[in-house]
Amino acid sequence: MRILSVTFLVFSEILISSQDEVINNRRFPESFKFGVATSAFQIEGAWNEDGKGESMWDRFLHNNSSKTLDRRNADVACDSYHKWREDVQLLKELGVKIYRFSISWPRILPDGTTNKINQAGVDYYLNLLKELKANNIEPLVTLYHWDLPQHLSELGGWLNPQIVDYFGEFARLSFRLFGDYVRQWTTVNEPKTACLLGYANDYGAPGLWLVADGVYQCAKIQLLAHAKAWHIYDDEFRASQGGKIGFVLDTPWNEPASDSDLDREAAEREMQFGFGWFANPVFIGDWPQVMKDRIANRSKLEGLGFSRLPEFTQKEIDYINGTHDYIGLNIYTGKLVEYLPDYEIGTPNYNFDNGNNVYCDPSWPASSSDWLFYYPSSIRKLVNYVNEKYSPEEIFIAENGWADHGEIDDQSRIRYHKGYLSNLLDAILEDGVNVVGYTAWSFMDNFGWGAGYTHRFGFISVDHDSPNRTRTWKSSGRYYQKVIRTRCLVDTCVD
Ligand code: BGC
Repeated sequence: MRILSVTFLVFSEILISSQDEVINNRRFPESFKFGVATSAFQIEGAWNEDGKGESMWDRFLHNNSSKTLDRRNADVACDSYHKWREDVQLLKELGVKIYRFSISWPRILPDGTTNKINQAGVDYYLNLLKELKANNIEPLVTLYHWDLPQHLSELGGWLNPQIVDYFGEFARLSFRLFGDYVRQWTTVNEPKTACLLGYANDYGAPGLWLVADGVYQCAKIQLLAHAKAWHIYDDEFRASQGGKIGFVLDTPWNEPASDSDLDREAAEREMQFGFGWFANPVFIGDWPQVMKDRIANRSKLEGLGFSRLPEFTQKEIDYINGTHDYIGLNIYTGKLVEYLPDYEIGTPNYNFDNGNNVYCDPSWPASSSDWLFYYPSSIRKLVNYVNEKYSPEEIFIAENGWADHGEIDDQSRIRYHKGYLSNLLDAILEDGVNVVGYTAWSFMDNFGWGAGYTHRFGFISVDHDSPNRTRTWKSSGRYYQKVIRTRCLVDTCVD
């Protein structure tokens, strides 16, 4: 009898949704927080209304429409600046426990400094926070999701160490103004991608080709800014507000292309160059050794008397180390990593410093975006890796999502979230990793950096051609609504 029931249990825990996919049919823990994510620049619009200042992304796109695939910008985006009440009702209908959004720095501080506070901008976020509270939705607030005030960009942006202090002032003001409503803060979203997009090439604002050195300087300054905000919260607000603060890092899961030692080493180096670059200073102290060694060595061979990777002083190492209450992860895809012999010394470049061949397996289902493939076990592998290497207090999946061309019956998005969430549930229940929440990217179709409106990520469709920016539910929205309600991924689960 016992053997029979055990067999039944094991069988019932495995439901085959397609030939090769096994979907976990157990339930997420009661405490697990399901939600959705957005960012200010990508949804708000109203780029110059009610006293908002210009951001470096406004300037970047206004100066050159070829920076997006459809030559469109985010002046109106989803018009959430005006439609926030309707949006909160949609969030409520979706049933989310948590909503991740960002504050537009230039909306509350038009030139980035506290010389002038824009009350209309402050009111916008206060109203949004109050409306979320009235609907029992927790906010997860990102301070910096890439829309640096243009004035600060002209001061040197993330290459100027003084930005750390300006960011500190902005953070302090945000904690003071909004902190009574917020229990979870993110300092910076994806510092790696922000630095690579805007300071290693001109795909993103401010569009500087500083791939040999500026990109490393940007990383150092974003880390110091993150730490500054963390310390301000810790010293001045934690006791009274009792929230958590950390940062959000993005990485694919980098897997060795073969079992060879060289490929394994290359995959780990890829993780260190893309993830440890930011995680090590905050969780361990200082840059990853492999980055220090390789960049110092190449700099020397290039004839420099110092490393292009700026050193931290011991004081800075101590200041940054330990500035976490959780780690946020943005994971979309997997990558295969193949060892390459070192690039010849020539033009210095971040990519040559690292120097691997990184690609996606052509057998993985492709999204509409060339960088995003369906590889669902990537999320389980990544959270285990982060857990083992960095032992964060908790892991929060801050973004995970799928791009298509905007289908309303978006079955590929359902498959994606089902597959990734199933693996995440395995990580929680089978591997014991402390993952406490998940905000899918994205709540609704929105502006894509470089993509404009050509690739869609939302559970809710937005008609970017209608003046009203009409919202329409997609099949994936209805699916996710049920997942949230049942805390379960398969059809056989009932409330
Ligand atoms: C960013 C989002 C972006 C998403 C999809 C993430 O890297 O944080 O802002 O829209 O990827 O491209």
